[in-house]
Amino acid sequence: MISTTLSTSDYLVIEGGKPLKGKVSISGSKNASLPIIMASILTKETCEIENVPDLLDTRTAFELLQYLGAGVEFGKGRVNIYPSSINIYTAPDEVVRRMRASVLVMGPLLARFGRAVVSMPGGCSIGVRSIDQHLKVFEKAGADIRVRHGYVDMELKRLKPVEYTFEVITVTGTENALMLLSSCEKKSILRNIALEPEVMDLVEVLRKMGAEIYIEDRTAIIRGSRELRGFSHRVIPDRIEAGTFMVAGFLTGGDIVLEDLRIEHLGSVIEKLKEAGAKVDILSLNSLRVRGGDSIKPLCISTAEYPGFPTDMQAQFMVLCCLADGVSEIRENIFENRFQHVAELQRMGADIRVRGRTAIIRGVKKLYGAEVYSTDLRASASLVLAGLVAEGTTVVKDIYHLDRGYERLEEKFKSLGAVIERQPRRKF
Ligand code: EPU
Repeated sequence: MISTTLSTSDYLVIEGGKPLKGKVSISGSKNASLPIIMASILTKETCEIENVPDLLDTRTAFELLQYLGAGVEFGKGRVNIYPSSINIYTAPDEVVRRMRASVLVMGPLLARFGRAVVSMPGGCSIGVRSIDQHLKVFEKAGADIRVRHGYVDMELKRLKPVEYTFEVITVTGTENALMLLSSCEKKSILRNIALEPEVMDLVEVLRKMGAEIYIEDRTAIIRGSRELRGFSHRVIPDRIEAGTFMVAGFLTGGDIVLEDLRIEHLGSVIEKLKEAGAKVDILSLNSLRVRGGDSIKPLCISTAEYPGFPTDMQAQFMVLCCLADGVSEIRENIFENRFQHVAELQRMGADIRVRGRTAIIRGVKKLYGAEVYSTDLRASASLVLAGLVAEGTTVVKDIYHLDRGYERLEEKFKSLGAVIERQPRRKF
């Protein structure tokens, strides 16, 4: 069994004030890996995936596949999945609670078994996060859906083609729909789909499996196959990890080179970083250099679906705004409760006011080290960034969230010259 022994509530101790210098390699994308791992349920043939980051979330995904009956071998960023032995169509509450993205088994299980029983994900720290759009597509495809005892129980006697316009743009909703409809031989049309690079990586995999998928603007036309094949695929680099390191390089007044990324996925992040005063040199399609300037200019940021500014980079950019020469404004349009890092940044001396979905940030001269708590993945990353520039010692607690989504984060920062140590949780 693949274990989730990374699961700890360790804490990080950071001494701020060291400019980062050197080279860092960006890992494979978490949010591209998860749906691609789940897509293996659609076939009985072996699937080989490379560049899979070793994270709590990817390990939870393997654990879920093993629970369903699949064989899984994982090592050195490569996973082989043997899905022919899958014989269970239930995703238990204990796993879905640990990782919301477990809902990505819904589409593939329905396609394979005509049945999926998946614990209903509740809200989470960043918002309510309904899955109504996923369910509407399943219903249009012919599923009979009941919610019983906290589980969504779906039965699909005959898979029908779907024509559906998403009422909100949803990443995992689009992925679930694409996976289910890739098993339908008749033509389906989905409008207002998410175009995130992670969705496009899944589309590439579904095409390798035998589905025909055409995408133009926000419309996908899908003609699937009942006999989807196994696949070999290399996952795209993690654009959010890349963005996090770019902010760190600039924020600390450093000079770093990021390798193994995809420049084409980072447009809005590079633009905003330059606007703030960073020197960003594109070295190739896969690498760039970031240098800090004399000061940080204030920013006006409004999160949006790709290719807009990613909500997953909002917390990290807020740290830049905290130290900017002037007043910045950040509007969070994707999730209704994604400002939990604000209270922790305030403990470090930041001047931030939140009104509804907008944060007004008045730049201060310095942040000061403090004991702060991680609340969600990207909020935790922002606290580490703040710790890297703060005066004195910062202790970031409950870094379990960081382990969900950043591969060897403190080791990578250390290799760039940061003073950062992981400490095991003290037992009292
Ligand atoms: N929404 C609905 N109904 C639905 C689905 C979504 O109202 O059926 C709403 C959500 O409540 C939210 C908005 O639509 O307000 C967007 O949600 P979306 O479904 O796009 O988010 P997600 O698919 O659950 C993925 C990423 C998130 C990332 C968002 C937005 C994965 C596994 N997760 O979540 O990543 O923030 O898209 O880009 O791909 C992270 O990595 O830290 C993370 C939270």
